Amino acid sequence: MIPQSTIDRIVDAANIVDVVSDYVTLRRAGASYKGLCPFHDDTTPSFSVSPARGVCKCFSCGKGGNAVHFIMEMEQLTYVEALKHLAKKYGIPVEEEEVTDEQRQRMNERESMFAVNEWAAKYFSQTMMNNQDGRAVGLAYFRSRGFRDDIIAKFRLGFCLDSPDAMSKEAKAKGYNEKYLVDTGLCVKRDNGTIYDRFRGRVMFPWVAVNGRVVAFGGRVLDARTKGVNQKYVNSPDSLIYHKANELYGIFQAKKQIAKDDMVYMVEGYTDVLAMHQCGVENVVANSGTALNEAQIHLLHRFTNNITLLYDGDEAGIHAATRSTDMLLAEGMNVKILLLPDGDDPDSFSRKHNAQEFKEYVAAHQTDFILFKTNLLLKDAQRDPIKRAQLTEDIVKSIAVIPDEIIRSTYVHECAEILNMDEAILMRGANKNRAAILENLKKEAQRERDRQARLLNEGKEEVNEVKEVNAPLEVKDVSNDEVSSITPLTPITSERSGNFDKYFEQQISTKQSQSEQRFIGLERLMMTLVTRYGEQRIEGKDADGEPIQMTLAEFVQENLEFDGIALRSPLYAKMLSLTCQHVHDEGFVASKFLINNQDEDISREAADLISDRYQLSKGNQMVQSEEERMVTNFTRIYLDYKNAIVEEDLKQCNADLTRPEVKDNPTEILNIMRRIQELSEMQRQLAKLLGDRVVVK
Ligand code: CTP
Ligand code: MN
Repeated sequence: MIPQSTIDRIVDAANIVDVVSDYVTLRRAGASYKGLCPFHDDTTPSFSVSPARGVCKCFSCGKGGNAVHFIMEMEQLTYVEALKHLAKKYGIPVEEEEVTDEQRQRMNERESMFAVNEWAAKYFSQTMMNNQDGRAVGLAYFRSRGFRDDIIAKFRLGFCLDSPDAMSKEAKAKGYNEKYLVDTGLCVKRDNGTIYDRFRGRVMFPWVAVNGRVVAFGGRVLDARTKGVNQKYVNSPDSLIYHKANELYGIFQAKKQIAKDDMVYMVEGYTDVLAMHQCGVENVVANSGTALNEAQIHLLHRFTNNITLLYDGDEAGIHAATRSTDMLLAEGMNVKILLLPDGDDPDSFSRKHNAQEFKEYVAAHQTDFILFKTNLLLKDAQRDPIKRAQLTEDIVKSIAVIPDEIIRSTYVHECAEILNMDEAILMRGANKNRAAILENLKKEAQRERDRQARLLNEGKEEVNEVKEVNAPLEVKDVSNDEVSSITPLTPITSERSGNFDKYFEQQISTKQSQSEQRFIGLERLMMTLVTRYGEQRIEGKDADGEPIQMTLAEFVQENLEFDGIALRSPLYAKMLSLTCQHVHDEGFVASKFLINNQDEDISREAADLISDRYQLSKGNQMVQSEEERMVTNFTRIYLDYKNAIVEEDLKQCNADLTRPEVKDNPTEILNIMRRIQELSEMQRQLAKLLGDRVVVK
């Protein structure tokens, strides 16, 4: 973790105009700057930069934030990576904190491995460009395959001399430890303890991870030797810094374009990636002939939801295409597939076409995965009833994993047509499978709850506080049955539940969002005030009418505490409590504190609240500024908020009255009626206070 003081230094140094100017041509417009948005195809300058607030925002696509968020989006980096990126730009040393000795040891080990890999990548590349053998053999090989120098440089291609230890000798002479040469797999240890270069005599393809670090290498024998006993490609073994199954070749060079085009091409080989870049198609990654796994899908998901699988039109290609696609579907990816004309792989195909033609061909020929699979299997099973039954089963299973209901039913419709069968039957099959999937999820969640409960009983582990379901609080949320019946009390952490966790969470969050939207909206307005003016001192009166002085953040918190209301958004709750904890720190400024926060979610949200154009108040702004009216504004929003809570409680009470177990229980009915009376009275009072209120939406 980067210490807060360092984050502050970085954000202070990173002038937003300066940072954005590296990517966007800015023109002054009053107190701010404007330019074309780098995040979408912009024709009129909708990207605005405010040096005073230190934030930028596109008013068309909504992207922006402070300098760190801008770099995250622009360079597709994580929060910490973006901070480091800016630290480097402004020459600020970053010392990470809070690591145990063991972690430090591992980190040092990882760093040492990255260091030797980085050196080796440079060494292989220099060898190929400058060494006589390198040029004659390595460079000649890539040139003979038609790769341009800019592509060779972009992918940092190189050559490892055909000598048992030329590379390792050089590495050791440069001070690199033999241990890391072996740990990274650059060298292999013989039984007698000596080492030799794993990739001798091969052209080298460094694997650059999404953050730009060299994590491994692939080495290809030269053409003449392909027939020998040697493997065509040799790869670095898995290590502390490399898990082949989790990486995607080319992701670093492709990520910007993937985000920009909002789609990615998936191919099999190194040379496919290279050739496509050379033809101008840069949103491409390779999975190196293995089936896709979850980590790879998550990696892609950071950049896009849309994936097109490109394969040779031969048997192997078709087989590869049908593997692992259910997993992509379950992750909510839109999967398309394109089989290239017979005999072509993406490498050879892209050499015959320019980027425009390539993209047009793909657009015209790609098919939706489920329909592709249906057609493919149908060809096999045309007249064989048993095979047909299996086929239906297979398709239904693929459809059932798709999280989105509308998409599922569209598929059912189309597949029924292709298979020439009753849509209802297919639908029933899909629903049955879906139910089984959800049932499994529920069981999984239940098991997890049981596990947590056991741990709690045994007192072994801190468990997230379990929410009281029937808390009889004044003006507080009464349980919403719909939600609580499916809300797991604690997050599902089991790894096995994998793909479906996300789906499950989504289900829950959409359910919640329908009833919570209004509350979150009002909380957002309150937090906008806290973020903008949290440290400002205001005059208030305590319960006895005595004047008191406190900050706006504390005023907000006191009000909530007084009414026993907990903010529904955990993020806002955290932001508020952190602000109150620090509000008396010397020189505290809420906006700065929140935007620079170590917690990425807080930082992002605060930047959003700060840059939002939304005016908190309408009316006679000539007389009072937003700042001067913050208390009035807060009070109005807060009354609205309380009113919403009362309304919701009333609704709940009325719903409770119709429940069968309540209907026959006079005491319970009486209780609820009393509560309705109370709530109605509150509602009346609130309405009076709200008076001719401006409705906040
Ligand atoms: N592969 C591998 N090890 C092998 C063979 C293949 O790791 N022994 C991986 C490589 O990433 C390779 C991909 O699988 O790029 C696809 O294999 P293949 O189609 O045989 O290679 P190409 O990429 O077509 O390589 P080339 O064009 O140089 O023959
Ligand atoms: Mn090939």
